[in-house]
Amino acid sequence: MALAKASNSQLEAPPVFTPGARARARCDLMGQVPYSEVEGQLVRRFLTPAHRAALDTLALWMRDAGMSVRMDAAANLIGRYEGATPNAPALMIGSHIDTVRNGGRYDGALGVMLGLDVVEILNTARRRKPFAIEVIAFGDEEGSRFPASMTCSRAVAGTVDDAVLQACDAEGVSLPQAFAAFGLLATDLAQAARQPGEVVAFLEAHIEQGPVLEAEDRSLGVVTAIAAQKRLMVRIVGSAGHAGTTPMGLRRDPGPAAAEAILAVERICGGVERGLVGTVGRIAALPGAFNVIPGAIELSLDIRAETSSARDAAVVQITREIEAIVARRGLDLLVDLLQDLPESPCDPALTEHLAEAVAAVGVKPRRLQSGAGHDAMTMAALCPTAMLFLRCRGGVSHNRAEAVREDDCILAARAMLAFIDALELNSSS
Ligand code: GLV
Ligand code: MN
Ligand code: MN
Repeated sequence: MALAKASNSQLEAPPVFTPGARARARCDLMGQVPYSEVEGQLVRRFLTPAHRAALDTLALWMRDAGMSVRMDAAANLIGRYEGATPNAPALMIGSHIDTVRNGGRYDGALGVMLGLDVVEILNTARRRKPFAIEVIAFGDEEGSRFPASMTCSRAVAGTVDDAVLQACDAEGVSLPQAFAAFGLLATDLAQAARQPGEVVAFLEAHIEQGPVLEAEDRSLGVVTAIAAQKRLMVRIVGSAGHAGTTPMGLRRDPGPAAAEAILAVERICGGVERGLVGTVGRIAALPGAFNVIPGAIELSLDIRAETSSARDAAVVQITREIEAIVARRGLDLLVDLLQDLPESPCDPALTEHLAEAVAAVGVKPRRLQSGAGHDAMTMAALCPTAMLFLRCRGGVSHNRAEAVREDDCILAARAMLAFIDALELNSSS
């Protein structure tokens, strides 16, 4: 696949830059059209022209940082900075470049840009490590276009299954059609898989997306584990009818049942179980008109907890309650499991290295769990993983108001460089 050259002089790296500060500025640059599908918002979904525009510019920046660039079979963009000897196993650094609808500028993108900054520092200093460094921009972490998330990191980790090929977006475009429009074959997806010996470790830097670091006045955190999550699609089926002529008592309206179901999710997940959260993020009334009693209501369900067992217990309870609601109202129910990601502990030894690197730049490392999902949780099937968190304003994320401080980004880049140095010491010891 040919990657277009960007000609905009605004994109050229200045001869001197502050690592971390430039990463943040680059996220800001990518917060708008053509890197967004929508004027005035940031919407960069998998395999869209906005995704393509981001990859074209990233490819240019990767080359500027001294890397060779390729796109893999899953539409991940990978820049490679060789180690002291060619073809050495790689430390992979990165995150995702896609966004939710009307999302923030730093969720995912910042981890990619920080990777670019640290590699460019090494390249400028002509420093080669015993290992190569690959910076990866995963194409789909959010699942904001197709129902399942983390398709691209699952492909790299070798855990993607053929079920994703059946997925369609809201406009009815299938995953294979979207891949074809991007110049790729969806049936080749599994070819993105890497062998365990090729990747020594994966490091992901990401905004916290929660309030803990800010509340404790800390810049950086070290992630110990990522919460388990499940995605389900609930379809409550009744009978479509005329809104004006069908008396209330003679309707099979799935709407009120959906309302009860959402309240059940809130109640069940609002208990004492640590880290248990439940979200109905998408509600569709079908066919969707003022004057039509809906024939069906679709609810997306996102359930997370610190452990798969706590999450699964909640899913069972929610499903039973919705079955009872639907039976009481004489309706029908279909529940599809779309995604099951178990909790993912980060690698303890690598996490200690990261904590030492954070301490080395003068920040007391705060260890914390991630309630948000990250590519690191799927990459754990391939190699040891570590995650660095940056404080974000108000803990706000998946929101245009997402914000991160420049000085925190600078500290994060320094910690990542310290992490790379420590890894060199360890691998040569
Ligand atoms: C990704 O942001 C997720 O946690 O779903
Ligand atoms: Mn996100
Ligand atoms: Mn993210």
